[in-house]
Amino acid sequence: MTRVGIDAIEIWTGKLQLDLPNTFAPTKGDDPEKYTKGLGLYTSSMPDVYEDIVTMGANAAKRLMDRRGLTPQAIGRIDVATESAFDNSKPVSTYIAGCLEQVYEGDFHHANKGERKFACVAGTQSIDDAYNWIKAGRHRGRSALVIATDTALYARGDPGEATQGAGAVAMLISEDPSVVELSTDQGYGSADETDFLKPNQQFPSVDGKRSMKVYLARMREALEDYESVAGRTHPDDFAYIPFHTPFPGMVRRAALLGYRHMTRDTEIEDELAAEIGRQPREEAFDGWDAYENAIRDYMDGLKGTDRYRDWYDRTIDPTLTLSGQLGNWYTGSVHLARASALQTAAETGRGLTGEKLLVGSYGSGAQAEIHAETVQDGWKEEIQQLTIDEQIARRYDLSFDEYEQVHDVHNHDKEIDVEEFTAPVGEFVFAGWGRMNERKYEYVE
Ligand code: CAA
Repeated sequence: MTRVGIDAIEIWTGKLQLDLPNTFAPTKGDDPEKYTKGLGLYTSSMPDVYEDIVTMGANAAKRLMDRRGLTPQAIGRIDVATESAFDNSKPVSTYIAGCLEQVYEGDFHHANKGERKFACVAGTQSIDDAYNWIKAGRHRGRSALVIATDTALYARGDPGEATQGAGAVAMLISEDPSVVELSTDQGYGSADETDFLKPNQQFPSVDGKRSMKVYLARMREALEDYESVAGRTHPDDFAYIPFHTPFPGMVRRAALLGYRHMTRDTEIEDELAAEIGRQPREEAFDGWDAYENAIRDYMDGLKGTDRYRDWYDRTIDPTLTLSGQLGNWYTGSVHLARASALQTAAETGRGLTGEKLLVGSYGSGAQAEIHAETVQDGWKEEIQQLTIDEQIARRYDLSFDEYEQVHDVHNHDKEIDVEEFTAPVGEFVFAGWGRMNERKYEYVE
């Protein structure tokens, strides 16, 4: 059986940063710990004035292609996942291919290009499309380039403003992959929900509290659906569980729910019973409210146990390091979580080859998808090439006034002129508008 999965990963962050506890919180009159402890966010990435979803996606893709010595001929498919698209017809992948064609010999005329939309889950769906294309034998020995790119901006003053972010994750999907092999086992939780949407508008309409409930409900459904094909899951089956991470606090909740589900009727529930009792079962209660209260008490107890905390520190916490510094990258977020975990493993010398990851993707509107992956023996070499830590350290730190200007520059309804904060070097930049209102890009040496 051909192994298919993620062969290479590159990450490009927006080049500006908004410091949440030190810049955002004081201006909002908030306690900085709301951001650091409550949401789990320290800084978020913002795009400089010459950056957008095309430049960030093309820059991540170019770095990936250069590192792997790839030519356009080696790539048979370019799929872009985004919820920040600026055109209802022409896909972002054509713009990105156009950028890459400026710097490589040859072209991507042979490559099938598209754009995937289902909020933040579209990045994972694009990987699935690429996987299916290769498994079906339609790839003619070529790889697929999947690019998840977003400028996750909210309207000023929206509660979501604290969770913004901007960046791109490029992934090469190939036969005999170096990083992870994807399994065919998948589970879905999908329903018509109105929690977060952008009905032909740039900034989302969000029901924040409801979106959190929907995230957990759909994730739970997806886990049950996954178990219906893959069999019961156990928390110790997986080295890491990367989740879609709108902010780390959301994943803290999802992880606790997942752990309760996975440990039900296991030796772990038995071992914990002396300390926190057994898990409440619905049939033992007269009404839903009493059952819910009992669940809440059990979860409060569970999250304080050493057993849970050890598992969380080992399996979940390493997936959140990048997110805390980058914010929400929508379609790229779960892929940052995977990279974050693998980076931690590489730094701490943890052996991972052959170990499993359980990946929980989510998109509002709403759909969760859960699948397993097996880490391949080239993972460490690949992950050690990432430069995201240096990129994070190099970001320009915005004052609040500057942040307001940057937000306005990227607001499609405003026209303001702001000087760039950083100087582009060796990258694609936005270069203005063309005669049909198309965006133009150029490569700056
Ligand atoms: N010290 C410590 N913790 C504090 C604190 C302090 N001084 N002040 C507040 N907190 C805690 C709160 O208790 C809360 O934690 P819990 O939920 O665990 O109780 C946390 O900080 C956040 O505080 P609030 O709930 O008061 O924050 P808020 O109402 O201003 O906004 C939000 C939170 C609703 C998530 C908002 O950021 C939002 O709307 N975000 C966008 C939507 C979103 O990300 N939803 C997630 C699921 S949908 C999805 O995943 C798709 C996607 O990418 C958008």
